[in-house]
Amino acid sequence: MSQRQHLLTVDSLNRERVDHLLRIAARMEPIAQRRQVTRVLEGAVLGNLFFEASTRTRVSFNAAFCRLGGSVCDTTGFTFSSMAKGESLYDTSRVMSGYCDAIVMRHPDQGSVAEFAAATNVPVINGGDGPGEHPSQALLDIYTIDKEFQRLGKSLSGAHILLTGDLKYGRTVHSLIKLLSLYGPLRITLVSPPGLEMPAQLVDLVTSRGHRIEQRNSLASDFSDLDVVYATRIQKERFTDEMNESFQGLSNDFMVNRDFLDQRCSDNTIVMHPLPRDSRPGANDLNVDLNGDPRLAIFRQTDNGIPMRMAIFATLLEVDELVEKEMRPV
Ligand code: CP
Repeated sequence: MSQRQHLLTVDSLNRERVDHLLRIAARMEPIAQRRQVTRVLEGAVLGNLFFEASTRTRVSFNAAFCRLGGSVCDTTGFTFSSMAKGESLYDTSRVMSGYCDAIVMRHPDQGSVAEFAAATNVPVINGGDGPGEHPSQALLDIYTIDKEFQRLGKSLSGAHILLTGDLKYGRTVHSLIKLLSLYGPLRITLVSPPGLEMPAQLVDLVTSRGHRIEQRNSLASDFSDLDVVYATRIQKERFTDEMNESFQGLSNDFMVNRDFLDQRCSDNTIVMHPLPRDSRPGANDLNVDLNGDPRLAIFRQTDNGIPMRMAIFATLLEVDELVEKEMRPV
């Protein structure tokens, strides 16, 4: 099976394919909101394999497949799979591809989903491989930016986008910055604690595509021309003990909150976050004091996960052109 039939990394997507997915996602909205129904995936089975914690990705892939008329088999955690008994990714993949028509997999090791996909003959979607990539998240993020910009009368051409937080281990921003670089030209500001910067090869790639990138270690600047703030959580689960100690005293310099938005941004700046945001004491990604603020787009963003994941399934399983014909009112 070619890499084109899987979704393992956004590297397999060009502008034309992303634009197609955006159009299909928009057509899926009435089904995602259950104003219309379709059975285009009736009889199809999804294997939803999550070997690392997840709420949004796991449940929204499940819901998206069901909204298209399919059924889902879920496995969560190594403990409840035969990998706990030493079964390899290769054997698991061969077995699962005999049971399912498509597979979504999340795994803590970078590259593991691609290894799994190499042994299967059904489409595999990377639901997050350690600090590697999270392509469906980046697609729903681009879909969200597109919808928010349409609402605000803005364009991605010339937009100023801030990515902040843990840019080293945050897989969502790795996929997103590559997808964003298909649009623009953009001005991208990267703000992270020292040691958690965006990998240099991604900065070089995006710069080579003609975008302007600035890197800083503090949010203490004027961002009044900012169109999007995309905050991320510090990925403590990927830290060594030594790193845990050195990042323990991380200041609130990276907190996106109402003061930051009111004092440094504009009324038209939208705030995004892939979620989860860390609500434990001492966490400093995205403050709850923005709840209820119309600039906070995070729950519109999570809602957009359903139509975009429906579009991904429909495209990989080649029913994207059928959906509109097969749609009917509830
Ligand atoms: N954004 C995201 O991947 O969330 P989950 O970890 O809850 O799936």
